[in-house]
Amino acid sequence: MRDKIIIPSYLIPHFRSNHAGETGAVYIYKAIKMFNNDKKIKSFANEHFLTESRHLELIEEILDPQKRSKLILIWKIAGFFTGMIPSIFGKNFIYSTIFYVESFVEKHYEEQIQILKKKQQHNHLKKILIDLMGDEVSHKNESLENVSDLKFYHKFWGKLISSGSKLAVQISKKI
Ligand SMILES: [Fe+2]
Ligand SMILES: [Fe+2]
Repeated sequence: MRDKIIIPSYLIPHFRSNHAGETGAVYIYKAIKMFNNDKKIKSFANEHFLTESRHLELIEEILDPQKRSKLILIWKIAGFFTGMIPSIFGKNFIYSTIFYVESFVEKHYEEQIQILKKKQQHNHLKKILIDLMGDEVSHKNESLENVSDLKFYHKFWGKLISSGSKLAVQISKKI
């Protein structure tokens, strides 16, 4: 059996927000799968859904249930709407949504990796974060390759996503 990975207390709020975020991510793709019938999008969403489910499982392995966010239902609903709304507007909206979401997540993980690099401890945990971030970056790049045209309304939606995600991180670090 693998040794249980210990999360230092200063990283528990971060991991609570990671858990909330990965839960949201799973629900983004659940919604896209549900509301979009395009073949290419379906396989894109299926693949990402599997990766995000793996991320969530991994975090659930190391973050005890009592340390998780109490607002998990809200993160599920928020994720679901973040996937459902662009699905109504089509491909380009979906790809740009994923681009904005993953750009945010990349920075979010990078911050934690930097904290651990500075402290020069918890290498195993740092490796986990680096792996997670690697997947998010490839999701980001993949969606960017597929965005054909970023219009002002995509950018506006992207701003909403970034500020919504920021708020969700702040809240889920606490509750
Ligand atoms: Fe993820
Ligand atoms: Fe992702």
